[in-house]
Amino acid sequence: MTAAISFRAATKVFGTGRDAVRAVDSVTLDIARGEIFGVIGYSGAGKSTLVRLVNALETVTSGEVIVGGQNITELREPELRKVRAGIGMIFQQFNLMSSRTVAGNVAYPLKVAGWSKQDRKRRVAELLDFVGIADKARTYPGKLSGGQKQRVGIARALATSPSILLADEATSALDPDTTQDVLTLLQRVNRELGITIVVITHEMDVVRSIAHRVAVMEQGAVIEHGAAYDVFASPRQRATQRFVATTLRDRPSPEVLERLRHRHPGRMITVSVREDVGTGVDVFAGLRTHGVDGAIVFGGITEIDERPFGSLTVELGGDDAAIEALIADLRQTTDVHDLGTAADPRDVPWSAAAEAPAPEDETTPAGVGPDGVRSGGVGLGGVSSGGDAGVTRPFGGAR
Ligand SMILES: Nc1ncnc2c1ncn2[C@@H]1O[C@H](COP(=O)(O)OP(=O)(O)OP(=O)(O)O)[C@@H](O)[C@H]1O
Ligand SMILES: [Mg+2]
Repeated sequence: MTAAISFRAATKVFGTGRDAVRAVDSVTLDIARGEIFGVIGYSGAGKSTLVRLVNALETVTSGEVIVGGQNITELREPELRKVRAGIGMIFQQFNLMSSRTVAGNVAYPLKVAGWSKQDRKRRVAELLDFVGIADKARTYPGKLSGGQKQRVGIARALATSPSILLADEATSALDPDTTQDVLTLLQRVNRELGITIVVITHEMDVVRSIAHRVAVMEQGAVIEHGAAYDVFASPRQRATQRFVATTLRDRPSPEVLERLRHRHPGRMITVSVREDVGTGVDVFAGLRTHGVDGAIVFGGITEIDERPFGSLTVELGGDDAAIEALIADLRQTTDVHDLGTAADPRDVPWSAAAEAPAPEDETTPAGVGPDGVRSGGVGLGGVSSGGDAGVTRPFGGAR
């Protein structure tokens, strides 16, 4: 793998003494050339700081950041400018100049780079055509929709033909349909122009749709990373499990589970649906084989990286021994979480309650670290979990 970007124990501490915040904490990570790499995590996890290290908008406190084979932590300003020229960036708030037209905004970086007027004109036309807003060249940003503004942002970021595009919450201000349009455009930027894209987001849907690989950040650290499908289908860290559960909402949150138990006092199980293991159909085959009744009470099946992923929560009815045999059977092919019954409930791994004593969890607890530096970021425990609609939540519906 040729790395476009490598972090080597990269650490960024803001402030000193008691006020010090470890925004990025010893991150070691390779982002390959030509991939779309997602960085997810809740607010304050350190995502923006991590990408700002790439174009040296922030400098590391310790460790190294290597961009295109160059250790940028050793570079001086004139050399850094060259590295920055090869990196485009887009933002949540678009950051367009309101006094310039769309064409003027896109032409600006070319002007700074010393392009002739004629060359600028040709390049701007080409870029606006690529992002699909050629008809808006003379319009001012104030008259554009959010999606159109972000297209301008993307055109401007691509103007000087960077090899890396950093997208910091680039779709967070957009509605779901417009988000998908912009994500499709980013996919084209990646596929047709071969540009490495780093997508930072707290929205699971964004990484789910376009990221090839992902890293999950919490309190400055990367707690898990790998192929998007592997990380989301088999999250190893409790924090990632909860992130997947709370954002995909295919599993009942503790609150939803409470309500479900009122309506469905019998034995409930949550069965994973994945490409390599069973599908929903296996559950029904199992029910038939063992003569057990089953009612789907919650769930969702969607796609990650174009592969099926999700879970079904089923209430089982019938003979106890038959139910045990069915569960044992299902466990041969897929993950089964036993939720117990209303009278004898079991904790679920994706609930906050289950997260508290987590010896196998590699993440450091919130608060003061070994060296007295406070970790930045909001713990995942602070985020409300789960869906609220039970069976009425549409299948395939992440969020
Ligand atoms: N310039 C700064 N000075 C001091 N602290 C900072 C600075 N920038 C970020 N931080 C702190 O570093 C931590 C990480 O912030 P960062 O902006 O990287 O998080 P994030 O994951 O991008 O969050 P969000 O999703 O809200 O954008 C936070 O605790 C934040 O308060
Ligand atoms: Mg941020």
